[in-house]
Amino acid sequence: MNFYKYDNVLLEAEDGIGTLTINRPKVLNALNSATLQDIGDALREVKERQDVIKVLIITGAGPKSFVAGADISQMHNMSVVEALNLSKLAHNSFAEIEELPQFTIAAVNGFALGGGCELASSCDMRIGSNTSKFGQPEVGLGIIPGFGGTQRLTRLIGRGKAKEMIATSTMITAQEAYRIGLLDEITEPDQLMDNAKEIAKTIMKNGPIAVAMAKYSVDRGADLPLDIAIDMESQVWAETFATNDQSEGMEAFLEKRAAKFSGK
Ligand code: CAA
Repeated sequence: MNFYKYDNVLLEAEDGIGTLTINRPKVLNALNSATLQDIGDALREVKERQDVIKVLIITGAGPKSFVAGADISQMHNMSVVEALNLSKLAHNSFAEIEELPQFTIAAVNGFALGGGCELASSCDMRIGSNTSKFGQPEVGLGIIPGFGGTQRLTRLIGRGKAKEMIATSTMITAQEAYRIGLLDEITEPDQLMDNAKEIAKTIMKNGPIAVAMAKYSVDRGADLPLDIAIDMESQVWAETFATNDQSEGMEAFLEKRAAKFSGK
């Protein structure tokens, strides 16, 4: 079902799996402000449509690129104020990914550079093909990563590796991205979307509220002191006992049958 069409992104849903495709293949899916706006709008639709989208896959159109960064042709004459607005727009749109109750998978089908690496880093997990390439090339353009790269990348792979990637501005292979924890899985290019869908189906067998709350707990707790994070986890854990899914999940186990989760 192709139910939303934006100028620069496509949003489709099939069998509970949403696919958001950044759709500017002529410029390797570079992110201009209109595309960032479309991404934010599409993500708000995803949040509203939990009835048809249980897990979201984000990918890029065409065989070559996930997203080759922010659109350099739009940026090259920008003022400081325009730069700030573009960065804030990207931050707002990428924050929508983290705030979704649905789990998100970046299916990185080629270049994930600059804003593309930052978009992938905002997803709950990243799978790539063995031709994917990652990089933060901004310092080569005389700027720094401005769509979360100095922050989310650091949290994913650690300060040393993040600073190395950013300061050298060199591209790394999928294998290296996997080794340093930036990629969670690598597949053959023609199996990338099938693999992403298999992961989505595995997640969808579980209680949707529990998946959303687990995502929330991991993300919220990651930057809190451990004692506060642990307390937050206790609260969120206890809240799951208010759901029908908790009763159903445990009754199904005791009755030795598969659970039928209602998401309530
Ligand atoms: N912005 C605008 N246009 C881009 C682009 C970008 N980030 N990346 C690629 N394109 C365009 C190219 O200009 C080219 O357009 P034309 O056909 O009109 O010439 C088209 O996409 C195809 O690209 P190439 O011909 O360059 O393809 P290639 O295979 O030779 O090289 C590449 C691929 C190595 C990815 C190269 O395109 C490249 O280096 N792109 C820029 C990558 C980059 O620096 N990204 C970071 C941007 S800054 C940023 O993201 C800031 C931030 O903090 C968020």
